[in-house]
Amino acid sequence: MFYNTDCVEGARQYLRDASVDLIITDPPYGIGGDTLHKHYNRKEEFVLDGYIEVPREEYYDFTYSWIKEAERVLKPGGSMYIVSGYTNLIHILNALSETQLKEVNHIIWKYNFGVYTKNKYISSHYHILYYVKPGAKPVFNTHSRYSDAEKDDASNGSLNYQDREDVWIINKEYKPGQVKNKNELPSQLLAKIIQYSSNEGDLVCDFFLGSFSTARIAIGLNRKACGFEKSGVAFSYQMNEIEKIVPGSLLSGFSTPPPNKYFNQGKPMAESEKNEIHSRYLELKKSGMPKKQIMEILGRETGRGPWSLSKILSTIK
Ligand SMILES: C[S@@+](CC[C@H](N)C(=O)[O-])C[C@H]1O[C@@H](n2cnc3c(N)ncnc32)[C@H](O)[C@@H]1O
Repeated sequence: MFYNTDCVEGARQYLRDASVDLIITDPPYGIGGDTLHKHYNRKEEFVLDGYIEVPREEYYDFTYSWIKEAERVLKPGGSMYIVSGYTNLIHILNALSETQLKEVNHIIWKYNFGVYTKNKYISSHYHILYYVKPGAKPVFNTHSRYSDAEKDDASNGSLNYQDREDVWIINKEYKPGQVKNKNELPSQLLAKIIQYSSNEGDLVCDFFLGSFSTARIAIGLNRKACGFEKSGVAFSYQMNEIEKIVPGSLLSGFSTPPPNKYFNQGKPMAESEKNEIHSRYLELKKSGMPKKQIMEILGRETGRGPWSLSKILSTIK
């Protein structure tokens, strides 16, 4: 499902209407990206050659044609995340406004190692445009990474809330001595999008594969993957690499909420279970244990929440 071709031609030829659950993509920037590496402090022997740029004057037409294809192949309710710098963002927004796709969030991704400038502020963020195709309820797995109960140690704030704020601070990956695409997206960023906006078994597509980073994380998280890369050099190298990824091998590699400790919550309770809770309570109480600790133990052992335990225990004379 990976094609060494232009994404518009490839999508027309290989992807059916409404067949993709999630698109994550990072189009060429239209800023002379084939020389982009000169601005960065990197060892060029490890940066994979073959990045194909789009001339600035063609950027709108190019963007419009791939975004129209993306809209066609997305399922109703499917999501699309487009990563873009500021320079050509206007063209992407204009092209999106010519579609039926609906904006959900405009995310700012703040990264480290911005392009160094001396006489102005250093640019250290990208834009991520999150859109959905109308017609069905989009997948948004609110609790796929943090439960409501998890707190940040330092501030005691909700980790679920913090993770879902629209400014993401995620560092680019430094991979000394490894071959990479010049603009490789970090695994943490890709995993986050995939966890929130798709389910296992869904099809995730990247129109501009580059180093196949989207495909790698999607397969690792047990999704199916497809996409296009026009550069033959990048494509051949990465095709060998992608075959090494074991489906599902990254499922425990990213943030996931702890298993629900109240695993019996909401289930009907038989008289015999109530009696067992009573006797266990009395047994623990006899040992002189404080009530708070008893309730914690009962919660762990029975999988029942504090509210239902208190209700049962309130009937003890
Ligand atoms: C910004 S990079 C993508 C980086 C990728 N997200 C990663 O993490 O490695 C854009 C990629 O699109 C490729 N590209 C440029 N024009 C294309 C086209 N018309 N169809 C498919 N790929 C294209 C470039 O060669 C480049 O590898």
